[in-house]
Amino acid sequence: MKIFDSHAHYDDSSFDEDRNKVIKELKHNDILGVLNCGASLQGAIESVKLAEKNDFFYAAVGIHPEYAYTVNNENILKIRQLAKSEKVRAIGEIGLDYYYEENPPKEVQRSAFINQMELARDLNLPVIIHDRDAHKDTLDILKMFPQVIGVVHCFSGSIEFARQCLNLGYYIGFTGVVTFKNAKKIVDVAKEVPLDRMLVETDCPYMAPVPYRGKRNRSEYIEYIIEKIAEIKEINPEEVSYQTISNIKKLINIK
Ligand code: NI
Repeated sequence: MKIFDSHAHYDDSSFDEDRNKVIKELKHNDILGVLNCGASLQGAIESVKLAEKNDFFYAAVGIHPEYAYTVNNENILKIRQLAKSEKVRAIGEIGLDYYYEENPPKEVQRSAFINQMELARDLNLPVIIHDRDAHKDTLDILKMFPQVIGVVHCFSGSIEFARQCLNLGYYIGFTGVVTFKNAKKIVDVAKEVPLDRMLVETDCPYMAPVPYRGKRNRSEYIEYIIEKIAEIKEINPEEVSYQTISNIKKLINIK
C-alpha cells in the first residue's frame, strides 16, 4: 500500500543505531514521502539534513512548545535561514502543550507559538500544529492568522473542535491512536472529518498503531491507520491511501 507519512521524527535518537537502514527499507516498502518535523532547533537542522540527503524526505522546521524558552530572535532567524532549503515545506512542529507541568508557562508557550505563526505567514508556508490539552488557546491563535493553513497533528480534540479547525482551512492528522482498543473520541472525529481533509502520520518513534502499540513506530505501520479509517468510513483502503497522499502533497506543495 502506498503511504505518505505526514509527520515523523527520524532524527530521534531511537533511530541512531539503524537510521540509514530504516530509511532505505521505507523507500523499498512503498513509502512515497515523509515529512520529518523538527521539534527543537537541533531537530530542525537534522530534519533539513535528512531531507537533503533522501529524495523522498521533506522537512518542517520549528520549535515545539516544550522548548518554548528557546524561541528568541536569534533562533527565529536560524529557522528562517533553514527554511531557504527547497526541501523545507512547513513550519513545525509548533503549538501549545499544557499537559506536562514541567513545560514552560502558558504565556511563554503562547508567545513562542505566535512568533512562529508570524514566520509561517511571512514565508508563506503551512504549519504543523501540536496541541495537547490546549484546544481553546490553540484555536484563538490559529484565528489570529487567517492567511495561514496547516494540519493539527495527532488530533486529540472533540468533534466540535475538529469542525472549527476545518472551518479555518486546516487538515486533521491521524496517528496510531485511532487503532487503539479504547479509542472512541478520535474514531468519532474520523467519522466526521471529510476524507479530503485527513492526513495520516506516524509521529514516530511514538504512537505506533495496534498491533505494534508500544514498539518503535515506522512509516510502514500507517497501513493499519489507513485500514482503520477505511473501516470507519466504510470505504476501500486504497481510496484512503490515494486521498491522504494527494492531501499532503497539496498542503506542502509537491507536484
Ligand atoms: Ni511530533
